Amino acid sequence: MSIGVCPGSYDPITFGHVDVVRRARSVFDEVIIGVARNQSKRYLFSDTERLELAREAVTGIGGVRVEFVPGLLADFVRQVGASAIVKGLRGSADYDDEQSMALLNRHLSGVETVFILGDPGLAHISSSHVKDIARYGGNIEDLVPSAVARALAGKEY
Ligand code: PNS
Repeated sequence: MSIGVCPGSYDPITFGHVDVVRRARSVFDEVIIGVARNQSKRYLFSDTERLELAREAVTGIGGVRVEFVPGLLADFVRQVGASAIVKGLRGSADYDDEQSMALLNRHLSGVETVFILGDPGLAHISSSHVKDIARYGGNIEDLVPSAVARALAGKEY
């Protein structure tokens, strides 16, 4: 069985992420959303919140599960027997960030990273912009699942 791991911060998960997960699922028998920690980011949502919101966002999509990545992604992908790490690209800027991570993860785990182009109609969505819009009371209903919109509305920041 082929397993693709879609890792990320998911702070919080957006419709852009869900689109990439669906596309990954059309390639792999099973997709694991790996909710991980990026040491260079300060998160709005806790590990548990990021995990729960991701779970809610993919409820009903068969063959997709959500897990927490407690340490190195390279260790996680080996542990779950992943066939590949899957990253969504919105454009060339994303690729520049991803290249070194893909090479490092291959060096550490032997697992390849494959890139999937997301829907261009969702390319403008990023978690950081969504948080910014929500903070100033903007409308985010077309950008994130409703549970995420509710969670953002309940945050003090
Ligand atoms: O959504 P992000 O913040 O771009 O995702 C980056 C993430 C969380 C996938 C990356 O920071 C990661 O893999 N973190 C787990 C720890 C790890 O393996 N770090 C080394 C990466 S080469």
